[in-house]
Amino acid sequence: MQVARTITEVRAWVSQARTAGKKIGFVPTMGALHVGHVSLIEAAAAACDSVIVSIFVNPTQFGPGEDLEKYPRPLEQDLAICREQGVHAVFAPSAAEMYPRENRTWVAVEKLTEPLCGRSRPGHFRGVTTVCTKLFNIVAPDMAFFGRKDAQQAIVIRRMVADLNMPLEIVVCPTVREPDGLAVSSRNRYLNAQERQAAPVIYRSLCRCAELIHGGETNAARLVEAMRGVLGRVSLFHIEYVSVLDAENLDEIEHVEGTVLAAIAGRLGSTRLIDNIVVDTTARQDIITPS
Ligand code: PAJ
Repeated sequence: MQVARTITEVRAWVSQARTAGKKIGFVPTMGALHVGHVSLIEAAAAACDSVIVSIFVNPTQFGPGEDLEKYPRPLEQDLAICREQGVHAVFAPSAAEMYPRENRTWVAVEKLTEPLCGRSRPGHFRGVTTVCTKLFNIVAPDMAFFGRKDAQQAIVIRRMVADLNMPLEIVVCPTVREPDGLAVSSRNRYLNAQERQAAPVIYRSLCRCAELIHGGETNAARLVEAMRGVLGRVSLFHIEYVSVLDAENLDEIEHVEGTVLAAIAGRLGSTRLIDNIVVDTTARQDIITPS
């Protein structure tokens, strides 16, 4: 497995792979790899000949007072996971390599970045779209793989790629969960035992929403109220937002129809967690109820 620390090195590797006729699959990450990331690597390996993973804790997507400094960076462990998964190359640049000077050029997606995490983390998505543009320009992959766990991020990236005619395909993969329903996240390691025990309330609340929709509830405000009711039973959880939106364009809705996104963000102690489900109102779908 090639480990590239510089843009020059990674470009040389990619150009060799391309000359050899390989289809290149790219999985951008911030490291602290877990089974959620591994599922993206597997999807990339299934669809492409060469898999490249980036590991970069991107400073421009963290706001002041967020967890940039304490974000976990277990690089050796991450490289071992990549090796085990048969990843062909890892791009793990320093912040100075990616941002050698004060950044003056930003890529920003409008509207889609306004609700949900965009509201509570101003500037976050501008950092994500800018770094993904840089990474796509550096790696020049055929396909890039994102998780539905960060549904808004996936929607924003997909739109950016379409609007700017970026020559790659975005693939969105399902959320990987713990057996009790908690979405796997690099931030779960911050939770103490009590908080960890409380955390599945997020998924329980999302499941309640899906259940109500399938039971015929169409009023978005009532769905949000019911989700808040479930969350309210766990006093440790501090709600940031609970929303039911159109899953395509993230528009606010009064009545659910078509495909809707139910999304929750909040804090357990000092740890911020997000999760979501997509519910197709026209199809009775299987919801894996947590054990
Ligand atoms: P990170 O949080 O490391 O996530 C990398 C990718 O893994 C994202 O596409 C995310 O949605 C996906 N992922 C995380 N947890 C998952 C889970 N439980 N199931 C499935 N996929 C999961 O997202 C970022 O990094 C950054 O914003 C990045 C896109 C790399 C830009 O800096």
